Amino acid sequence: MSNEGNAKTLAQHFTPAAVAQLAWDAVRTLAGSDLAAGSRVVDPAAGEGALLGVVGQAYETTGIEIDEGLAERGRSQADRFYTGDGLLGTFPEVEDGSFDCVVANPPFGKLGPMLSLFGEDGPYRLAQRFRLLDGQKQVRAFPVELLFVERALQLIRPAGWLALILPEGILANARQQGARDWLLTRAEVRAVVALPGAFNKVQTALVVLRYSKPLARTKARLIAPVGKNPSVEQYAQRSGLLLGTPARRGQEATLLTVEQRTLRAQRWDPRFWQGRAFVRRLAGRLRLVPLGEYICHLTYGPIVTGSHPQHVEAGVPVIRQGDIAETGLDERALLCVAPASAHDPPRSRVRFGDLLLSRSGAGALGRNRLAVYLGNGPANVGCFVDLIRLEGLNPFYAWFFFKTRLGREQIAAYANGVGTPNISFGEIRALQIAALPSAYQEALERRYREQVWPLHCRREHAEFRAEAERHFRAIVGELEDYLQTQRQ
Ligand SMILES: C[S@@+](CC[C@H](N)C(=O)[O-])C[C@H]1O[C@@H](n2cnc3c(N)ncnc32)[C@H](O)[C@@H]1O
Repeated sequence: MSNEGNAKTLAQHFTPAAVAQLAWDAVRTLAGSDLAAGSRVVDPAAGEGALLGVVGQAYETTGIEIDEGLAERGRSQADRFYTGDGLLGTFPEVEDGSFDCVVANPPFGKLGPMLSLFGEDGPYRLAQRFRLLDGQKQVRAFPVELLFVERALQLIRPAGWLALILPEGILANARQQGARDWLLTRAEVRAVVALPGAFNKVQTALVVLRYSKPLARTKARLIAPVGKNPSVEQYAQRSGLLLGTPARRGQEATLLTVEQRTLRAQRWDPRFWQGRAFVRRLAGRLRLVPLGEYICHLTYGPIVTGSHPQHVEAGVPVIRQGDIAETGLDERALLCVAPASAHDPPRSRVRFGDLLLSRSGAGALGRNRLAVYLGNGPANVGCFVDLIRLEGLNPFYAWFFFKTRLGREQIAAYANGVGTPNISFGEIRALQIAALPSAYQEALERRYREQVWPLHCRREHAEFRAEAERHFRAIVGELEDYLQTQRQ
């Protein structure tokens, strides 16, 4: 296989030095004397040995790597280094239950493309070795990183330690809840450190686990970044410090702790818990209500497989993510589809006053793109736009609220995960909104209509657009201040 082929099939993403150092410092800090000099440390998917290279000389290190070229380069980083398969392979002195610590940044993605590496009887041998595959109907789609997590549990001694770098999807996606709960019955979660920007587009986190009896009394320490894009080096350094001290917040990172049992049937990603803690703090001051209580219709546009919507003159306009600008809907270049066609189902036809939300993608949901539909003619929404029809809540107020920090934090907490950010219907219904007097909500709408809308309608001129955005920001800013000063 070519180097490029290896890189793709074997999911080769190498750990930056600062993150490798953080992983080792974190597990050593949390383990204390439990990882004394002479402890045995293994990485079953070691690449060039980035993680083992930072483990001090005082420890006995073992690496396994399937790619010969990488293994050749990694050899100098460990006391023992084997070329072969870390899931099914057998190697001298690599016995189950014999290591004090497993460090790994395992390959991640679907098992399917890797199956050929395990030989003809691979699927059978994998099924024999990994409990997580029991009852799986779609083995090819199973995340290979979870097999490495189970392999790590097999290699570790009782009460041993694991420092694993995993895609956030494993920690955040509802689909993986079963795997998280399975793991929680075998190990304590001692820390989860979000690793923004460490591996380009894939959001990952460092997870420190201790192989132990289920639901121990210990707490999990969850660390997330402060602000948007801290440098990997500074953030890693700050996170390492936070793990070792009682401090809760540094310049680049913030820490909160949760009990093991709180993690059961829940997400594990720090951003999610950070958003929850933020909402809980505010709930002491403001009456917060789940948005779901005001929703009378929630849907998204049609997903029509195998057919792209064709523009039809005088057809029904379709609002897509790109049509939602910062200050409202941009109706200048809407695609029009054949009325009553598969691209124009009645259920997702918009009505005057509907709230529209881009439900996917860093550039749309990631920027909280929302708008209120103010048109009168028939229109529909595209498949990445959620239509939210509200009753008893002013849609303009809802729009501005989800632009404030309180709204943004909540959406960002849900939008996490591997790959494209997304928000589900259940998550939209669970978003909390402050119950403010309707006169106040209406005053916000009036302000928008008077100060933003007329400029928004002339947004082809840059100066009007900028002015509309300035007024829009002022409305959101004042709402934010108002929320800060309210008491229940
Ligand atoms: C995400 S990379 C991380 C490498 C290294 N641990 C690091 O942190 O830089 C995953 C590594 O696992 C290797 N790999 C993939 N499948 C493997 C297998 N079945 N057994 C051992 N190594 C494997 C890949 O070649 C790749 O080097």
